[in-house]
Amino acid sequence: MEKYGLVFYVFILVLSVFSYIVSATRNKKHKLPPGSMGWPYIGETLQLYSQDPNIFFSDRHTRYGEIFKSRMLGYPCVMLASPEAARFVLVTHANLFKPTYPKSKEDLIGPAALFFHQGDYHLRLRKVVQRCLSPEAIRNFVADIEDIAVSALDSWADGQVVNTFHEMKKFSFEVGILAIFGHLEDHHKEELKRNYCIVEKGYNSFPTSFPGSSYSNALKARKMLSKILCKIISERKEKKTAENGLLSCFLSSPNENGISLTENQIADNIIGVLFAAQDTTASALIWIIKYLHDNLKLLESVKAEQKAICRQLNVEETRHLTWRNTREMPITHKVVLETLRKSSIISFTFREAVEDVEYKGYLIPKGWKVMPLFRNIHQNPDFFSDPHKFDPSRFEKAPKPNTFMPFGSGVHACPGNELAKLEMLIITHHLITKFRWEVVGPESGIQYGPFPVPIHGLPARFWRQ
Ligand code: HEM
Repeated sequence: MEKYGLVFYVFILVLSVFSYIVSATRNKKHKLPPGSMGWPYIGETLQLYSQDPNIFFSDRHTRYGEIFKSRMLGYPCVMLASPEAARFVLVTHANLFKPTYPKSKEDLIGPAALFFHQGDYHLRLRKVVQRCLSPEAIRNFVADIEDIAVSALDSWADGQVVNTFHEMKKFSFEVGILAIFGHLEDHHKEELKRNYCIVEKGYNSFPTSFPGSSYSNALKARKMLSKILCKIISERKEKKTAENGLLSCFLSSPNENGISLTENQIADNIIGVLFAAQDTTASALIWIIKYLHDNLKLLESVKAEQKAICRQLNVEETRHLTWRNTREMPITHKVVLETLRKSSIISFTFREAVEDVEYKGYLIPKGWKVMPLFRNIHQNPDFFSDPHKFDPSRFEKAPKPNTFMPFGSGVHACPGNELAKLEMLIITHHLITKFRWEVVGPESGIQYGPFPVPIHGLPARFWRQ
């Protein structure tokens, strides 16, 4: 017995030495990227959270170059700060990097949401979402988005101080509901809103299932959301009414084998799209207000462009903005693009290497997190001169390829980008032509929640002109 034990021990020893030699040879051939892994386990997490994350990343970018390693929240990571590297991970070698999210977040949104997946299931859902959010589909929403924008602005334009971010979140939520359900009964909308807010609170909290914690309340509210969504789905199936919106697309999209999506798959994707749509769009909208407020000359030229559209609408006696009008706003459109560049709402994204990958002589080991740093690319003076200046005129020329990625790139690029831009154009039109506003409180400062927004959500007063 003892003899077998010894043989086994020697076998393990030989195996370990062998794997050490293989890994040493591999690592010699392809070294790890430069950078510091920080403290054991926590790595550089404290440094990241104790300062402005942009400074954290840009410091290391300057120190180590376009590719560097670190350790965050217990995970070894490789950060990539060049357009070529981002394209490598997100586009040309996307099959080597899978999306990765903490389990606690997956449980709240629902594991069947498309952005947690790769391969056939992801592609199938993505095609449906892309079709329903394409310019051809969303042009039918212009009048409804306009109604939502006008009633949102009217509700806060009485001179009271409002938290602009909260108000913009209400607006982007309503548009998200419209894009998903078309017209939805008020009682369903209210129930969805109430439970969604609890889920959202839990999403950004510490994930403990201790009774009464934000996270455990969120899990309960998430179950309620599933129930409400299943009810709406069965009502829609019964009524067989043709509504615009994602839900109708999900319900009428069997795959090539005739298999329909399950109610749970549809519910997870509805919650997923709402999550992807709401805070991102609201953050971009509040930055537009901030940048226009800080650049009076620009504000005047956007106003002139939008007033010209109002005059045109008066002549044509059209009550509503049309899709064509929204395509004839060159200055406002450039303001939207520059806002997306400068604010870089999604500063970076996460993937995980599914096998050892070599990039420019460096090894990205299997299982490591990989982070393309969009913001660093958007702030690089080689691609955007004087990058800290808010200058929409830079978009008179198209940016260099792969340098402008506010909506990501490749197989997971944002399918809602046209809708988000449409929302920004429509609400800016009404804000600029019918309202004036004044920012209250600090003029500078950013908070991350997790997206960057002006400090305290940009408290401001709005008045109807
Ligand atoms: C200014 C607003 C928005 C910004 C900045 C934004 C940004 C992004 C980015 C960067 C990604 C890619 C993430 C990655 O590669 O990991 C993404 C994905 C996604 N976005 Fe957006 N987004 C916005 C608005 C919207 C809207 C309005 C919708 C839907 C109505 C939407 C739905 C989605 C979905 C479903 C995905 C996942 C796509 C996939 O995995 O295939 N987004 N978004």
